Amino acid sequence: QSLRIGLIPADGIGKEVIPAAKAVITAVGSDIPKPDFVDLVAGWECFTRTGVALPEETVEALQNECDCALFGSVSSPSRKVVGYSSPIVALRKKLDLYANIRPVISVAPEAGQKPAVDLVVVRENTECLYVKEETLIVGENGKEARASRLITERASRRIGQMAFELAKSRPRKHLTIIHKSNVLSVTDGLFRETVRAVPSLPGVDGKYSDVTIAEQLVDSAVYRYASILPLRAESSLIIELLRLFREPEIFDVMVAPNLYGDIISDAAAALVGSLGLIPSVNAGDNFVMGEPVHGSAPDIEGKGIANPIASIRSAALMLRRLDYTKAADRIDKAVDQVIREGRFLTPDLKGKSTTSEVLEAVLSKI
Ligand code: NAI
Ligand code: MG
Repeated sequence: QSLRIGLIPADGIGKEVIPAAKAVITAVGSDIPKPDFVDLVAGWECFTRTGVALPEETVEALQNECDCALFGSVSSPSRKVVGYSSPIVALRKKLDLYANIRPVISVAPEAGQKPAVDLVVVRENTECLYVKEETLIVGENGKEARASRLITERASRRIGQMAFELAKSRPRKHLTIIHKSNVLSVTDGLFRETVRAVPSLPGVDGKYSDVTIAEQLVDSAVYRYASILPLRAESSLIIELLRLFREPEIFDVMVAPNLYGDIISDAAAALVGSLGLIPSVNAGDNFVMGEPVHGSAPDIEGKGIANPIASIRSAALMLRRLDYTKAADRIDKAVDQVIREGRFLTPDLKGKSTTSEVLEAVLSKI
């Protein structure tokens, strides 16, 4: 029996960091079934070469020949290009990867800094404003653009279940629901209520009774009205302010609809320094795909100095979701040690090392 892992480096530094993740998975081979790597293509370069950003063969291979996958990064153009759409967005839909899970951890807070950040954003990955239903009409007042926002009970429930599971598995067992239901009471109201109702679903049977639940209104405007909020809130409800930047250490697991989750998770990444550190997984019930949070970094492409840690940690996260806890722990501990020692760091972390030197350092700890 083997563990079949699809590798889609895609564009730019994706081609430099995904091989590092592959090497690390190979190094923990004794703790997982024999890894069997399947090389796959997608991305902008693939589009310019073949006219297709996400070849059907890639999707089929992922569906039929792989247990999991690692995706690098794509160089999506900012302008509209006829026939092109982002392969990563398409893959999330095709593989029903309905959750984007992004842990943000500060490993070595500098002296005098606040307590370490150790939070996970669980972002709904399939709906909200990202259903991309937009219309433009010319009315009496000139152009009118509209977008519709979809929130379903089904998607909110399954993301809620995933968030509760995750919270339960962590030491602090604390879940914060991010919403704005004081204004968007129908859509965000449904999200909030559905997530809050997860512990009382049939069959849950007190499983989440040790998870504490809090809520946070996503908009910083709330901050100004903080003093009146508790009066309006239900008695059982704790309202947290927008404290991500002031007190990031209070958060454990944060669950949010797609758009808020996107923004909150990028903001959280800013708290711990380089984008080159932050991993994620796209997860569904049947598949998991690791993906560093960063893009293709055209400014450093080809220089051999991309930080491989986000991809290495994405591999660990992927293995962890597949319950290869020991392998995942070995990888994360090795990375933690390398960061703490500070001898082998890439320039984004003010070091002088190359991608392969950081990889070698991680491998030596494993
Ligand atoms: P980016 O994440 O590629 O780069 C932002 C900055 O962070 C750059 O200065 C870059 O050098 C640095 N950086 C990122 N990852 C790094 C790493 N591993 N090691 C060291 N430094 C690192 O974002 P940017 O420049 O806004 O976008 C570039 C391209 O990437 C665009 O075409 C964009 O569409 C695409 N992109 C793709 C994503 C994906 O594949 N999921 C996500 C974000 C952007
Ligand atoms: Mg984003």
